[in-house]
Amino acid sequence: MATDTGDPLPRFPAGFLWGVSTSAHQIEGAAELRGPSVWDVFTAEPGRVKDGSTAAVACDHYHRYPEDVALLAGLGVNAYRFSVSWPRVASPGGLDFYDRLVDELCAAGVRPVPTLFHWDLPAGLDWLERDTAARFADHVTAVADRLGDRVTKWITLNEPAEHTLLGHALGAHAPGRRLLFDALPVAHHQLLAHGLAVRTLRAAGARDIGIANSHGPTWPASADPDDVAAAGFYDTLLNRLFAEPVLLGAYPDGLGELMPGDVAADLRVIAEPLDWYGVNYYAPTRVGAPLGTRSEFGGLAIPAELPFSIREIEGRALTDFGWPVVPEGLTELLCGFRDRYGDRLPPIVITENGCSYEGLDDQERIAYLDAHLRALHAALEAGVDVRGYFVWSLLDNFEWAEGYARRFGLVHVDHDTLERTPKASYRWFRDVLRAQG
Ligand code: BGC
Repeated sequence: MATDTGDPLPRFPAGFLWGVSTSAHQIEGAAELRGPSVWDVFTAEPGRVKDGSTAAVACDHYHRYPEDVALLAGLGVNAYRFSVSWPRVASPGGLDFYDRLVDELCAAGVRPVPTLFHWDLPAGLDWLERDTAARFADHVTAVADRLGDRVTKWITLNEPAEHTLLGHALGAHAPGRRLLFDALPVAHHQLLAHGLAVRTLRAAGARDIGIANSHGPTWPASADPDDVAAAGFYDTLLNRLFAEPVLLGAYPDGLGELMPGDVAADLRVIAEPLDWYGVNYYAPTRVGAPLGTRSEFGGLAIPAELPFSIREIEGRALTDFGWPVVPEGLTELLCGFRDRYGDRLPPIVITENGCSYEGLDDQERIAYLDAHLRALHAALEAGVDVRGYFVWSLLDNFEWAEGYARRFGLVHVDHDTLERTPKASYRWFRDVLRAQG
């Protein structure tokens, strides 16, 4: 892995957003104080989550949020990305919690940046149904009415690509469906929900709206035309399918023909202009032609019937999750987006970047973040307009189907006592932020 050179990081522009990200289902707990989500249903099914755990308590952030906001203040971030739980917002008193959290953040001088949906769909709703997009707009109205006097920066959705792929195509995440390409309507309805949310927020007076999409370079396994074609197809699914309806108002490569409803009319909603575009970056993917057998991706089984296979990226350090550490992939991704979308690309914010490692003296995480910040700066120097960077994550949390086995936090959480202990990376990031002023 590229290591921390010990040199000070280059200076980032004045006004740059420096933050950390979390999501409701992964940290809040207090599951009894909200309605169930598809994740509660999924985790109750034996074998779905590796360690058999649930997020019923998670980090108990619901009760311990003042301590967590104090950790944010101690870190010196100027922004905090969290998500509002749709089933909590729909439950009596649910919005009171976010009201208190936002007040606490504002009092600490940390800008609240809520994500309106981070995978915890209320149980009983279904992204295969078009009506779910309209229901989402109602949820957004309720949140904006209550928080819009203090929240000025908004994120509509988190990673609709992963929610579609892992949750509905491959069945590794809630709601656990294995629809393969029949999951495409889930992508369309989430994108429609995004567009309706932008309209709803604008009507409520919001002027600073983005989406958090996951992206990464796709590398062909070889120069063989079959590998190149398979990698191109994967790139369309991961990168273009979720970026182009939003940025260009069009689906790539004829995929629009596979989508339900009046797609042309929906695309006009989906393409509502954004103020910025959020990118979650973890690693590139190396992709080849199908092998006729299952392939693996970060522990995830990719069925043999798909028209591509995931190959190992060799010669790279791996995080505890088995993800390759490729900082320069971030520069490649951002420059590639700039070249691909030109002036249709609004300013970018890195809404997630981080890694899973054990231990309090987490030098590997420091090296990872240091190298990725340098890679981000290289993109800035190459002329890409990047306005902010959020580390995933503040706390060790409920890492979806991995349960509590993965630790992405700058702050260690003892999952028995819920005690928080800042790691070496917390102190390192605090010093970076101080040096950046
Ligand atoms: C998600 C987070 C998740 C992280 C690490 C992102 O895909 O938005 O919720 O914890 O990656 O897996």
